[in-house]
Amino acid sequence: MDLGLQGKSVIITGGGSNIGRAITLGFAREGANLTVADIAVEQAEQVAEEARKLGASDAQVIQTDVTDFDAVGKMVEAARKKYGRIDVLVNNVGWDRLMFFSKTTPDLWERIIQINFLSVLNCTKQVLDTMIEQKEGAIVSISSDASRQGEPTEAVYGGMKAAVNSFMKTVARENGRFGIRCNVVCPGITVAEKPEELSEQSMWKTRDVDFSEDQLEKIAKVMPLKKIGRPDDIVGAVLYFASNKVAGHATGQVLSVSGGYSMIG
Ligand SMILES: NC(=O)c1ccc[n+]([C@@H]2O[C@H](COP(=O)([O-])OP(=O)(O)OC[C@H]3O[C@@H](n4cnc5c(N)ncnc54)[C@H](O)[C@@H]3O)[C@@H](O)[C@H]2O)c1
Repeated sequence: MDLGLQGKSVIITGGGSNIGRAITLGFAREGANLTVADIAVEQAEQVAEEARKLGASDAQVIQTDVTDFDAVGKMVEAARKKYGRIDVLVNNVGWDRLMFFSKTTPDLWERIIQINFLSVLNCTKQVLDTMIEQKEGAIVSISSDASRQGEPTEAVYGGMKAAVNSFMKTVARENGRFGIRCNVVCPGITVAEKPEELSEQSMWKTRDVDFSEDQLEKIAKVMPLKKIGRPDDIVGAVLYFASNKVAGHATGQVLSVSGGYSMIG
């Protein structure tokens, strides 16, 4: 099915690893012009190379720390200059360290707030003027099922992802009149198939709590679909919300793609 994404200018934050990588390659198959904004530039370059081979109209990597408002502004301007517009923003960067709240420190909260919420404010603000001028645009933020139900060891992260859900709804209400749609996709646990799919900065490489194969099997058993998520599982929902052709009447929505881990209706 043609989603009408051929030649669209798409920014994906954190496109160098795991879910962001799969999303980038998904847009590549649709023939989009890609701007991958990541701090892990080496891995992002590899993803961009793969994207070109898969059919992206073009792909560029801009090393960006999305917690830095001015750096995000420069990245967005470079994307607009190169491709003439900004059609889609995917706010994908996120990070967590699994820990009971009683064990956490204000320094950790600060980092989680910056990476999971402030980054979304920065990127959304920096694309809005262009999208308003165009009278068209789609913003898709990657949140988490941790935002929809209390998830032990993810108190601050879940709170910030819930903030993303709410923020996207407000931005959707304020900017619908300009043809801008904002939606949210909530993955559950989503594990790369191979270590090469993870960037050096991936939380899966740097976190001190990791899942063994045994634990993953146990987690799969309690999921309604009896499996854990893979990065490719998330791509379809993002492409759907990004496409004016198929989702032109959908805005302010929060969709879980998590094997049925949370069911909210
Ligand atoms: N993987 C999961 O199980 C899971 C579950 C629910 C939600 N999510 C959400 O999905 C999104 C992607 O998760 P993932 O597992 O692919 O993450 P990941 O850690 O594998 O990849 C994140 C990417 O973002 C980049 N990044 C980190 N900080 C950055 C910064 N300040 N500026 C620019 N780039 C930065 C990293 O270099 C990396 O390439 C996140 O928002 C995460 O919260 C993931």
